[in-house]
Amino acid sequence: MTSLLITNVRPYGEGEPVNVLVENGVIASVNAGADAQADSTLDGKGAVLLPGLVDMHVHLRYPGGEDAETIETGSRAAARGGFTAVFAMANTTPVNDSPVISEAIWHKGQQVGLCDVHPVGAVTKGLEGETLTEFGLMARSDAKVRMFSDDGKCVDNPRVMRRAIEYARGTDVLLAQHCEEPRLTEGASAHEGENAGRLGLGGWPRVAEESIVARDILLARDYHGRVHFCHASTAGSVELIAWGKQQGADITAEVTPHHLLLSDDLLDTYDGTYRVNPPLREETDVEALRRALLDGTVDVVATDHAPHTPEDKACEFELARPGMLGLETSLAIIAEIFVKGGLADWRWVAKVMSERPAEITRLADQGRPIAEGEPANLTLVNEDDTWAVDEAGFASKSSNTPYRGHTFSTRVAATVLRGEVTFAGDRR
Ligand code: DOR
Ligand code: ZN
Repeated sequence: MTSLLITNVRPYGEGEPVNVLVENGVIASVNAGADAQADSTLDGKGAVLLPGLVDMHVHLRYPGGEDAETIETGSRAAARGGFTAVFAMANTTPVNDSPVISEAIWHKGQQVGLCDVHPVGAVTKGLEGETLTEFGLMARSDAKVRMFSDDGKCVDNPRVMRRAIEYARGTDVLLAQHCEEPRLTEGASAHEGENAGRLGLGGWPRVAEESIVARDILLARDYHGRVHFCHASTAGSVELIAWGKQQGADITAEVTPHHLLLSDDLLDTYDGTYRVNPPLREETDVEALRRALLDGTVDVVATDHAPHTPEDKACEFELARPGMLGLETSLAIIAEIFVKGGLADWRWVAKVMSERPAEITRLADQGRPIAEGEPANLTLVNEDDTWAVDEAGFASKSSNTPYRGHTFSTRVAATVLRGEVTFAGDRR
């Protein structure tokens, strides 16, 4: 039997500090004496204790993109960010469109052992938008694939999306759509608006996203599938999603920390770091996304952690690859905006960053209550630890963070996966 005593922590940031005893990966007590016997101790120093964070949307680049990230560096970044489970998108090389590749990703994640890495299967072979992959075979593989997405690309053909929804229903898997009508984003690199116009950048209009959101709400409603909308970025998408939920469509949605914090005013720098897909929008969109996350219209925060090499980023804005790092800064951003901003409490953070993502992806052992008998997947958060973002200290293999020099006052202090400490800042 192995045991761990986590001292001086406040579950959900509520009440007096307690000591949590973990035995064999399971919470044995949430009110242990300070003298309880354990193989090792983690000094919580008064930290907030949350269920381990779950990220429905990351790119870990394995296989084929290991110059930007690997399962090991990505898992370490996840653990540093407070995550105990992540979902790795299928746009790798080769694409994750078969059980062999899904299993390779899953087994590598387990071998590294810092975070559960759940492979997301491609909806279509080679992400080409035509032929559906074998959802059932991937779902039944060792990797137990439970989410399918062509993320990076949109399943733009409505007939293919309809078939995917019908097929997914039979295997009870989730379809995650990257909403982008490609015929409206040809040559686009920035949000279509005043800033892109002034800077001479090709515009990515809101309707490119919203037209797919609207279409897929109707498809989900009529063909009874579970559809999840990746990285919602516009006020209009949020209105459509609210309407779709009222209609009883089985839909969910995520928003990224960068769309909740940044706007296209940053494009003045022409810095490729700020190129992301969907693009940074306007303040009014940022406000609407915040409200939608608060009122539950948008279900979860997901990072869309998208590592890229310096060669792919340090170039002309329009040539830079889209994407930003997210894993190691997301909790700090959400805490800053919502908890420090007085809009929400830690219970709510647990909901949008752990419980709901685990529910939507049907992970039985994640996003669970902090209570006796529950799996010890836990995140410790220091509410009063001011730090400046410096990518030199990141575990990620890439450094394309848009937050360089930003200062945050909340920081992940430690992460525990099934009773094993996977990250401990200065806690031991
Ligand atoms: O900015 C993005 N980067 N958006 C995506 O949809 C894909 C991702 C990537 O793979 O780099
Ligand atoms: Zn995407």
